[in-house]
Amino acid sequence: MGWAHRSLIRMRDLTAEDIVRILDTAAACKDIFRRAVKKLPTLRGQVMVNLFYEPSTRTRTSFELAGKWMSADVVNIAVPSSSVVKGESVTDTARTLAALGADIVVIRHPAAGVPAMLARSVGAAVINAGDGMHEHPTQALLDIFTIRECRGTLAGLHVLIVGDILHSRVARSNIWGLKRLGARVTVAGPPTLIPSGLERLGVGVSHDLDRVLPRADVVNVLRIQRERQTSGLFPSLREYTRLFGLTRERLQLLKPDALILHPGPANVGVEIDREVMDDPRARIEEQVTNGVAVRMAVLYLLMGGRQDAMVA
Ligand code: CP
Repeated sequence: MGWAHRSLIRMRDLTAEDIVRILDTAAACKDIFRRAVKKLPTLRGQVMVNLFYEPSTRTRTSFELAGKWMSADVVNIAVPSSSVVKGESVTDTARTLAALGADIVVIRHPAAGVPAMLARSVGAAVINAGDGMHEHPTQALLDIFTIRECRGTLAGLHVLIVGDILHSRVARSNIWGLKRLGARVTVAGPPTLIPSGLERLGVGVSHDLDRVLPRADVVNVLRIQRERQTSGLFPSLREYTRLFGLTRERLQLLKPDALILHPGPANVGVEIDREVMDDPRARIEEQVTNGVAVRMAVLYLLMGGRQDAMVA
């Protein structure tokens, strides 16, 4: 279930051509950031609903801005004060929203597979804004957009993803997208936080951050997801930082032109130091800005737009 069905559920479903089309459209969308009035008529008359069953700052806000800047009518459902608390199922909630006229449902849910299930059962375009430990396609797209914006291409770049790969939907989506575009991908983290079988996808695996850092063109640092940890996966946060934190001391191991990414929110002082986030090689704030452009592009293309007709 994916692009061809007017929904975006998994990076795994996108071809290299699909991804490039989204990135090129996002680049055109980013032009409107420089305008005094950030408004395009593109999605006038379309209703977009944000349905988030998990907390979010970046994803929810950037989808809201993307929809508003393209003139969609944007509705945010506050799950704690919705009929969900009376026991309404996620499918019935989404069907209710479709009956109220929703053309697009953006959903984040703690259970993997919920966006795919909705895409099959609801008469609206569905965008996966993160489902459990499965995928977070628009985060991967904005990470890849940020790399391409800085480097011009993904082909041949060595991208290192550091941290809790096991619980990370961001890592999974990034791996699919980066491999499609010809990047070399290595993951680094404790053995307990790296799923088995990644080598079969052509992904390098390292448990020695200091060894792989000097070879990376891009370092994408993942959040330690305390809410998804089962006990005993690593001895302590201090030990994690000692072995896998992108600390101030480790900055000297990086190439002078390496890019530092973090999808956020960051546990500052655990997986990344403040000095690293402030380093000129870090692109963390650009990632957030680019998130709006990428989500505009996804909304536009899912609603059937032509790239050349995008910017009015
Ligand atoms: N990166 C990301 O998904 O951030 P939020 O949880 O703030 O949306």
